[in-house]
Order: sequence, then structure tokens, then C-alpha cells
Amino acid sequence: MKNIVVLVSGGGTNLQALIDAQQRGEIHGGEISCVISSKEGAFALERAKKAGIRTRVLARKNFPDNLTYSDALLTFLREESADLIVLAGFMVILDEMLIHAYENCILNVHPSLIPSFCGDGFYGLHVHEAALKKGVKVTGATVHLVNEICDGGPIVLQKAVAVEEGDTPETLQRRVMEQAEWHILPQAVDLFCQERLDIRDGVVHIIDQMD
Ligand code: GAR
Repeated sequence: MKNIVVLVSGGGTNLQALIDAQQRGEIHGGEISCVISSKEGAFALERAKKAGIRTRVLARKNFPDNLTYSDALLTFLREESADLIVLAGFMVILDEMLIHAYENCILNVHPSLIPSFCGDGFYGLHVHEAALKKGVKVTGATVHLVNEICDGGPIVLQKAVAVEEGDTPETLQRRVMEQAEWHILPQAVDLFCQERLDIRDGVVHIIDQMD
């Protein structure tokens, strides 16, 4: 059984999607063992507690930079014996040192079809603001493995979502979550835990399920 540690910073609807999938028995070979928040009081912590999942807080504001924060987080992750780390609305850029310690074992959900609207400064509502400003007619979400390039790691799953006339960043964010993020994040976690992700030359190939 793989130990899944979920990192959060905010409302935690993606965490909720993972908890719901786990409760439906859709995460095979893994279990969420701990949720770590970069913010005290994040609502995601309440969701975890309600599901009986242990929580820890490592507040980003108590550290001078991402390197010292990542160093402390690495200690937490080792204490938790994490096999898979899931960034579910986690708003801290991890230092390379941590990423190398967990190479190809960190999944992130991003609210656009990478390589559009991603990288430095593209997070949360800003992503949807940029998509609307550009006038794209289709957007979506991506789950990818984390490497040292911000939002640049191997893509695991993507799902497209239509932009509608009159959308605001908030309505678009909600539709992308409902129609894409909340589906592909649990699916990607399930595939990882079943060891069905084969990464070759920076490309993820999904291994067919054995019967
Ligand atoms: C989600 O839309 C997630 O994709 C995004 O933040 C939101 C968190 O919501 N993440 C990023 O922008 C990371 N670059 P949640 O806390 O309700 O899951």
C-alpha cells in the first residue's frame, strides 16, 4: 500500500475529490495517510479531519524562502514515509532539492491545458483570467509529474473544458474543477498507485490494466 501525502494551501476541493474517490474504493494500492497545509486555518484541513485523515501544518510564512521551507517539508515527508506526494492546490514552488529527492513521485494538478497558461505567476484564478483575456474557446486541466521546471514535468492526464460566452474567471474556474480537475486528479493518483505510469524520454505512457 503506497502512502499518499497530500499538500494543500486553501479550500481543498481537489483534496475532497481524492477523499471521495478513496471512500468509493477508486484508489487502488494507495491510501491518503496525511495532509500537510502551507497555511494555518486552510479549509482543506477541516475536510481531512472530517475524513479521519491526520493533518499537519507547515506555514510558509514562518520561513524566509522556498529553500528553507522545502528543507523543513522534506523532513515532514520523510517522517510520513511518503511514497506519493500530491500537490492539490499547493501554492508554494518546491525547491529542486526536494523535487530530486522524490523524482517522478510528485503529482500536481494545474487548471489549464499545459503548455498553455502555466509557469511562474500562473496559479489559481490568474490562470482563468489569462485564458479569458486570450479568448481561448477551450481550456481544461492537467495532472503532471513535477520536475524542476515550473509546470513543465511529464503530463499524466488532461481534460478539455469549453469556455462559454459570459464566463468570469470564477465561473470558468468552477467548471474546470467540476468537469476536469476533480476527475483526472483521482484517476492519476490511482494510476500511480497501481504503478501504471511508464516514463520514457519525458513522456508518460499509461500501462494497460492487467486482468
Ligand atoms: C485548483 O484549481 C488547482 O488546480 C489550482 O488551485 C486550485 C486549488 O483549489 N492550482 C494551481 O493553480 C497550481 N498552479 P482547491 O484548494 O479547491 O483544490
